[in-house]
Amino acid sequence: METATKQSFDVAAIREQFPVLKQEVNGYPLTYIDNAATSQKPLRVIEAVNHYYTFYNSNIHRGVHTLAEKATNAFEATRKSIQQFINARESEEVIFTKGTSESINLVAATYGRQNLSAGDEVIITGLEHHSNIVPWQMVCEEKGANLKVIPVSDKGEISIDDFKNLLSDKTRIVSVAYASNALGTVNPVKEIIKLAHQAEAVVLLDAAQAVPHLEVDVQALDCDFMAGSFHKMYGPTGVGFLYGKRHILEEMPPYQGGGEMIKEVTFEKTTYNDIPFKFEAGTPNIADIVATKEAIGFINELGRAAIGNYENDLLAYGTQKLQEVDKLRLIGTADHKVGVLSFVLEGMHPFDVGMMLDARGIAVRTGHHCTMPLMERFGLEGTVRASLAVYNTKEELDVLIEALKKIAGRIK
Ligand code: ALA
Repeated sequence: METATKQSFDVAAIREQFPVLKQEVNGYPLTYIDNAATSQKPLRVIEAVNHYYTFYNSNIHRGVHTLAEKATNAFEATRKSIQQFINARESEEVIFTKGTSESINLVAATYGRQNLSAGDEVIITGLEHHSNIVPWQMVCEEKGANLKVIPVSDKGEISIDDFKNLLSDKTRIVSVAYASNALGTVNPVKEIIKLAHQAEAVVLLDAAQAVPHLEVDVQALDCDFMAGSFHKMYGPTGVGFLYGKRHILEEMPPYQGGGEMIKEVTFEKTTYNDIPFKFEAGTPNIADIVATKEAIGFINELGRAAIGNYENDLLAYGTQKLQEVDKLRLIGTADHKVGVLSFVLEGMHPFDVGMMLDARGIAVRTGHHCTMPLMERFGLEGTVRASLAVYNTKEELDVLIEALKKIAGRIK
């Protein structure tokens, strides 16, 4: 793993790699600060998709011909790079999925169904994305289990004491965001995992908003499952990963039936393939998984510690400058955050703020951010959210602040 050194980037050179950033929107240079929704893609990722379809498009793990072997090798090379990226013990512990939502649904529908009984409990936090709420509600309803929620403080943090109060011998699964998409809060996941394991519960980390920004090490964390999406880490949309410890994945039933996930099929009985293939029924999104290796390469070459330091500086700058905007209230002021600035302008609907920012070429997300219970906790319909990536700059934050000052000036 990289060591955490202060390092300043050549941001201009980084931006040069992202064709989408070189355009004007509504007559202004694009200020893209909606990276928690999806990050932009460097040219090397875009070209890898093109290269795959131009030169070796073929189905994987099925053919003996040259192109099939090339495609299979490239696909498995991405698995290896994800294994190294999250420091899993083995590449077989990395399953490709459509993304974080599918990864969590997979665990709820397999491990959850297999291990939950009436009266058992699943613990989540009040910060969760709907993807880490609804799959657990569905399986709890089916099994007669109960969903418990760690409350969120005014700063947007959760407390370990509250978690301890909920944890009991009924707890089977703890599923928490590593970092909140709506507020940026980084949860104390290491401590959560340790305590959950003492209670013999397994832990899933929704790491969608953490993997692009933090050094993530599944062995050091000792989480049982981790879910992530490649499109938030400079890779293509529609692909992501589920990490699971080998012994747990091996005990789990398959998620979907079909090709690839079987060893032998007769009309009487089917035996299942080994992990990870047991969970990868059907032809996957080969091109985008192959291209993901370039996204990982992009991050690795910059270094995650250095990315984290750079984004932290931007976050600190943005947090301070936003305070200059009249009538603006920051939502989510946790001590430990990734680069998310969520806020409301008193007396103005977040959608209206979003539209006015768009007119100035600024892309932010507005609304509930798929975290309706969290918004309700703050008594809000939604927020305006600026979320940062490694190609963003202080100058872009200045553009945001200036635009917000003008909008706030119009509020009566
Ligand atoms: N989960 C993504 C977001 O927070 C889409 O915007």
